[in-house]
Amino acid sequence: MRKKVIAANWKLYKTPAEAREFFRAFLPMISGHTRDEVVICPPYVDIYVAVEEVRKSDITIGVGAQNVNAQHACALTGEISAPMLRAAGCTHVIIGHSERRQFFHETDDLVNAKLKAAIAAGLISIVCVGEVIEEREAGLTEDVLRRQCTRAFAEIAADQARAITVAYEPVWAIGTGKTATPQLAAEAHRVIRAQAAEAFGDEAAEGLRILYGGSVKPENAASLMAEEEIDGALVGGASLDPKSFAAIVKY
Ligand code: 13P
Repeated sequence: MRKKVIAANWKLYKTPAEAREFFRAFLPMISGHTRDEVVICPPYVDIYVAVEEVRKSDITIGVGAQNVNAQHACALTGEISAPMLRAAGCTHVIIGHSERRQFFHETDDLVNAKLKAAIAAGLISIVCVGEVIEEREAGLTEDVLRRQCTRAFAEIAADQARAITVAYEPVWAIGTGKTATPQLAAEAHRVIRAQAAEAFGDEAAEGLRILYGGSVKPENAASLMAEEEIDGALVGGASLDPKSFAAIVKY
């Protein structure tokens, strides 16, 4: 049985003071909860506060960044590297979120470069893949997932697959209130797992956690998590409120 991962992606929300307020409310609500792994990915400027607060928790909670640069120690104004994230106390990093692909023109090759940098720095990556509505309607979902995974996993050794988590986030389900059915998500997860098997072998693919993201809420978390192929959730909007995210963690 793969242990599920419930991860929060706060996107461009919360100042450091608001982040601290969140943790002070949230941590007591999930005290003693060890069934699932919990990860919170705040904006960069909140990482310090997040790391400080989760260290006070009685359970292990990961802190992740939402992006990373593939380079380190060079002239790239405004960027943050994987070794910096690790040194700041991050355990995880989200790579290739659809908003980065869409609005910051991140390519599959850039996702691969970032993933390699994250692995080298000792971070666990949450690699996001997923089709847009036009691709789904044109019957291209499998092709898109295969391409995104093949390129993301290129030149990564099988023994490094342990540092990879994938999030299937159909773009049409993000922030829209339209959730993929557990069956539809499971179908996509099987395609992703098959690609992982090609890249890393069957055993590594069997252990790969594949999360679902896209309008996960307290009301639909249990039915999604009941699906054997769904190894957790990457939650946007519903992770901003401590009560709602705690309810999802405890689905
Ligand atoms: P929502 O949960 O707001 O749909 O966002 C999903 C997401 O993009 C998480 O990375």
